[in-house]
Amino acid sequence: MTEFEHPQHPDITEAMWQEVDKIIEAHQGKPGSIIAVLRECQNAVGYLPVPLMDHISQGLNLPRSDVFGVASFYSLFSLEPKGRHLIKVCTGTACYVKGIKEVISRISNEYHLEEGCTSEDRCFSLESVRCLGACGLAPVMVVGDNIYGDVKADKVLGILKQYT
Ligand code: FES
Repeated sequence: MTEFEHPQHPDITEAMWQEVDKIIEAHQGKPGSIIAVLRECQNAVGYLPVPLMDHISQGLNLPRSDVFGVASFYSLFSLEPKGRHLIKVCTGTACYVKGIKEVISRISNEYHLEEGCTSEDRCFSLESVRCLGACGLAPVMVVGDNIYGDVKADKVLGILKQYT
């Protein structure tokens, strides 16, 4: 256990805090371990809320600015909660021409979900990407590991329903 108290946070259970403490302990005193610690703590909690990063900075005896700097620099780290299903919509040229904008606005309206955000019930996160390399299938959407081609605005909600 680290000697620091666990701050209250609705997304971090006591079991998660204990896991976090084990991770910190395993890396204490080892230089250059901040990325590994952040990655493992993110796996334990799902993302990196501010009180968790404060706890890590105390536990590793590193300046808060170092921990926050690394966490916000690397795209593999998320400072916001993520949905259970990540929707990637392609906004590359082929998908754009074939109507991905309408697909995105259907998703946004239905789930009150902006690009780069997570729905309130944490079911979906929505990201746009430049080209998924499957332009022949445009417009393209990926949900988790599943790729969907020729996605039309009037079909997309039916596809997403199966994930709710
Ligand atoms: S532009 Fe969408 S897959 Fe290439």
